[in-house]
Amino acid sequence: MALKLVIIGGGSSYTPEILEGIIQRQDTFPVNEIVLVDIEPGKDKLETIGNLGKRMIHQANANINLSWTLNRREALVNADFITTQIRVGGLQARSIDERIPLKHGFIGQETNGAGGIMKAFRTIPVLMEIAEDVQEICPDAWIVNFTNPAGIVTEALLNYSNHKKVIGVCNIPFNTQHSTAELLDVKPEEILIEFIGLNHFIFGKKVLVSGKDRTEEVFDRLINRETNYTPANIMPLDWSETFIQSTKLLPNPYHQYYFQTETVLEKDLQSYQENGTRAEVVQELEKSLFELYQQPNLKTKPKELEKRGGAFYSKVACSLMDSIYNNKNDVQTVNTQNNGTITDLPADAVIEVNCVITKDGPKPISIGKIPSPVKGIIQNMKAMEELTIQAALSGNYQDAYNAFVMNPLIQDEKKAKVLLDELLEAHKAYLPQFKQ
Ligand code: G6P
Ligand code: MN
Repeated sequence: MALKLVIIGGGSSYTPEILEGIIQRQDTFPVNEIVLVDIEPGKDKLETIGNLGKRMIHQANANINLSWTLNRREALVNADFITTQIRVGGLQARSIDERIPLKHGFIGQETNGAGGIMKAFRTIPVLMEIAEDVQEICPDAWIVNFTNPAGIVTEALLNYSNHKKVIGVCNIPFNTQHSTAELLDVKPEEILIEFIGLNHFIFGKKVLVSGKDRTEEVFDRLINRETNYTPANIMPLDWSETFIQSTKLLPNPYHQYYFQTETVLEKDLQSYQENGTRAEVVQELEKSLFELYQQPNLKTKPKELEKRGGAFYSKVACSLMDSIYNNKNDVQTVNTQNNGTITDLPADAVIEVNCVITKDGPKPISIGKIPSPVKGIIQNMKAMEELTIQAALSGNYQDAYNAFVMNPLIQDEKKAKVLLDELLEAHKAYLPQFKQ
């Protein structure tokens, strides 16, 4: 059977990664049609990526017909898989999400704190429209969503859109598996980490190497040590022996924002003064990536793309789609509905969890209770995510304020309002639902 893949946000600098992933899987995952979709302001980038994609396909001698368009609805006709990788408002909007909180003494980050909530406000309504189009035009297709905040966006779609074939993905579980393999000097395929939590907020509970429990060894080796595979967008900090040995959990780099807040804030403020925020660094990176992409002799994904924090995301996405198509029943970590997998979170909450991947989608592997040390914070984060979704859909100021004030990185009743007001004003062009 031949398959059609539609990449929404196809003009993204990340696209060569997913194209490479598809090309490499030709034998098992026979995609023979790819359509890249973008919007008018992204037209030039879309064309550059389209042309590079054609060269990549030609170089690999792959049997794939690649095209690109600004007409999303037309592109969706007969699609089997849709990946979504959009950034509403572009990097400009991300820079605002980072700068305004920093200016007021708060973490300014793409998916955490005030910035993450604002990104959800801008993104959820657009993804809802996409999901409704998919439901109408190609109802059997799977949406694989990378758009951040990926967990929150996936929950919004699963709970409030009519399209239910939606899965969220992220590279953090992949990175954790690989960095842990490096710590233990084993192959990543031999490792299975039992994860618990939410997107950008998952912990590793247990590390099995070929079925043998080696969790304690990982803890010992992790202490006071920086690991590779910290995504390029996060400062690599280490974790103390007391933290690891008391919680008995494997943190991920995003936990620094919550458990090393002061240090991270200090460092972020410093690098902001030196090089601008991450969005501004990424803008420069993108410029040089697109210069590279335009070179007619470039015919493969360039190494430089690994400087982006989301490097390897497409390995995750491609193995997921491959396993659905081939009903592989292998274990992968994705964002899907809880339905009792974690007993102390709501059934309709989206969690990031190990699943058996089947032709009918991901089947979460039961976990049980959240370990006591992080039970409170995970429930707090989930409640804040629910408030964020509610506000993104209602456009109600008080809903938005509730999400802000209950976010563990804000929790200040007066400053929450200052941040929210300033951010709503700065982003108003992308927040039509918030009529004030
Ligand atoms: C990590 C996250 C991604 C995020 C990326 C940001 O890898 O898992 O969800 O998009 O970092 O990277 P960037 O290069 O845009 O700062
Ligand atoms: Mn991610």
